[in-house]
Amino acid sequence: MSLADPIIRPLREDDGVNALSLGSAELKPLKSFLRKQAREYERASVARTYVIVDKQDVDRGGRVWGYASLVASEVHLGADHVPPVSRWPDGYSLPAVKLARMAIDQSLQGRGLGRELMSFMIALVQDHIATRIGCRLFVTDAKPSAVSFYTRMGFTMLDTEANKKSNQPVMFLLLDNKGLAARKQ
Ligand SMILES: CC(C)(COP(=O)(O)OP(=O)(O)OC[C@H]1O[C@@H](n2cnc3c(N)ncnc32)[C@H](O)[C@@H]1OP(=O)(O)O)[C@@H](O)C(=O)NCCC(=O)NCCS
Repeated sequence: MSLADPIIRPLREDDGVNALSLGSAELKPLKSFLRKQAREYERASVARTYVIVDKQDVDRGGRVWGYASLVASEVHLGADHVPPVSRWPDGYSLPAVKLARMAIDQSLQGRGLGRELMSFMIALVQDHIATRIGCRLFVTDAKPSAVSFYTRMGFTMLDTEANKKSNQPVMFLLLDNKGLAARKQ
């Protein structure tokens, strides 16, 4: 079975979530999240998951070949970061959206699907979330093996001592500050 014509849409209850193959044991939590938790998280509104399926499955359950999940978040910044506005509380954090999980089926990695899914997620956050609520950053806790991928997608490593020592460092994308302009249209 292969993926002829990929599209990205929200996860459905009847999607086939068991066949996603990621290979290494270290990535098992990403596989089991999709299989056991993603739909429950969706029902409870604690995460929203978007999936790659074949175009023929746009309006029905289909085999999931890749996914990404979003949650609301905030990022604590170090004392040396300059706040974006005056009168911001000490020890401040910035509102953010977090890419909580993301994976592409092992058989399809390295063919541009990760870039496609990430571009979709960035556009969703930038154009549909950050224009409606205060939100400055798109962030993720990056696995060391995925740091280069996020860097290629425009993410930067958060420059704090604690973060640099972390084994899943925070990487962020600064969202365009176009909320007001977008809302005037
Ligand atoms: C990381 C992952 C999502 C990337 O998806 P993908 O479909 O393999 O990536 P793409 O083929 O779209 O590659 C996009 C770009 O990133 C680069 N890239 C992808 N994976 C990379 C890696 N591990 N190291 C270095 N560069 C990488 C590609 O060279 C490509 O660059 P280019 O378009 O400028 O040439 C996918 O490999 C994956 O699911 N890995 C296992 C799970 C995982 O690590 N998830 C992230 C959790 S933090």
